[in-house]
Amino acid sequence: MKNELLKKIENKEIIVGVVGLGYVGLPLAVEKAKAGYKTIGFDVQSQKVDMVNNGENYIGDVVDSDLKKLTENKMISATTDFSFVKDVDFIAICVPTPLDKHQQPDISYVKSSTIEISKYLTKGTMVVLESTTYPGTTEELIKPILEEGSGLKCGEDFYLGFSPERVDPGNLIYKTKNTPKVVGAIGKDATEVIAAMYSAVLESDIHTVSSPAVAEMEKILENTYRNINIGLVNELAMLCHEMGISLWEVIDAAKTKPYGFQAFYPGPGLGGHCIPLDPYYLSWKAREYGFHTSMIESSMMINDKMPEYCVERAMKILNRHGKALSTSKVLVMGVAYKQDIDDYRESPALSVIDILGENGADVDFYDPFISEYKHEGKSKKGIDKIDEKIISSYDLIMITTAHSNVDYEMVSNNAKAIFDTKNVMKDIKNRDNLEVL
Ligand SMILES: NC(=O)c1ccc[n+]([C@@H]2O[C@H](COP(=O)([O-])OP(=O)(O)OC[C@H]3O[C@@H](n4cnc5c(N)ncnc54)[C@H](O)[C@@H]3O)[C@@H](O)[C@H]2O)c1
Repeated sequence: MKNELLKKIENKEIIVGVVGLGYVGLPLAVEKAKAGYKTIGFDVQSQKVDMVNNGENYIGDVVDSDLKKLTENKMISATTDFSFVKDVDFIAICVPTPLDKHQQPDISYVKSSTIEISKYLTKGTMVVLESTTYPGTTEELIKPILEEGSGLKCGEDFYLGFSPERVDPGNLIYKTKNTPKVVGAIGKDATEVIAAMYSAVLESDIHTVSSPAVAEMEKILENTYRNINIGLVNELAMLCHEMGISLWEVIDAAKTKPYGFQAFYPGPGLGGHCIPLDPYYLSWKAREYGFHTSMIESSMMINDKMPEYCVERAMKILNRHGKALSTSKVLVMGVAYKQDIDDYRESPALSVIDILGENGADVDFYDPFISEYKHEGKSKKGIDKIDEKIISSYDLIMITTAHSNVDYEMVSNNAKAIFDTKNVMKDIKNRDNLEVL
């Protein structure tokens, strides 16, 4: 099986399947197809499937013309029908791994997509999970479902592995194609073949590890590292404010050390589908071993309280201007969880808006990338532009996302008061009406 697959990879005869055509899956499908492998995308949302088949792009990191060309050339197609799994030689699973309402892993999307795959899995297929998850998922959950559903044996009839996705939406340098990839599979042959498949498509190094669990843990380490370091600077931001020190200046100074320090920045909390959620996957799994991941929990507590802390600071700023929050008009600038993208999943700005509203403020938002958002069953429309008159009509401007295509000079010249939680106004000269987190 190994040699046959290696030959097929070399001859570009592999047909690729990508399950879940979202932020991770669609760019991956495009890279596979661009490298000359016919690719079938699977998704439960027929709207996305139709868009892909029409060559209509909906993911910021995918180049519109790339997708259009690939669908026209029939290199990419999409379907909701999992029976086409029987036609593919390589399947990457890129479905969501959120938390449930008790902050525990919701692995239901991984489970249901694996069950569908198992019904149509054929001999000689490589299956790779790319969704971020707790260590053990591939061997303990995916393998038995695939074996039971297909009647095939892992390692003999099909290969199985885990290769974490590292996509960083909006990153102009590192994309799917040039970001090094880690592969951990069940058995040496599986590792070799799956690594060869990624190597044939990507420009980056492929780093193999001894098992899927190592690769799963490696991904959680990456995201926990960010979570904890952001927790550290958020805590220091609160302390530095009390001490009258600018943490931003402190970080700029610390950054001059050429080794041993990596800069992380404070903000109104954590956002996105990964950093706020993934460490919970590990703390949940750790409990099976009677282990408490206390650093993760402390960091979560600090990060989770940032939206509330920021609203308290906003309240004090308004007080100094003789205004109560409950009678104030506040404009929140930025609901995307990071700069220059349109993704607002888990964005702390949504909590900031909710808390401001709960305290009686009249809140609007402006985001050049997002005109409307849906959150906890409610939707909110943003204002579609800002100008001198609009900015001056608010009692407070609160900056929650550091988008680069905003005229901050104009905002500074016309705002009554500004609370900048992202230090995006660092170069603005007039700082009389400005407070920074
Ligand atoms: N977005 C990121 O920046 C990022 C980065 C690294 C890793 N990840 C991880 O990658 C995984 C996917 O994240 P995403 O951001 O692409 O999610 P997403 O929500 O953008 O896309 C997931 C897609 O899977 C589809 N889907 C859900 N259930 C399905 C099923 N049973 N069968 C087929 N399709 C199904 C959804 O309709 C959706 O289109 C997650 O585990 C996430 O943690 C995401």
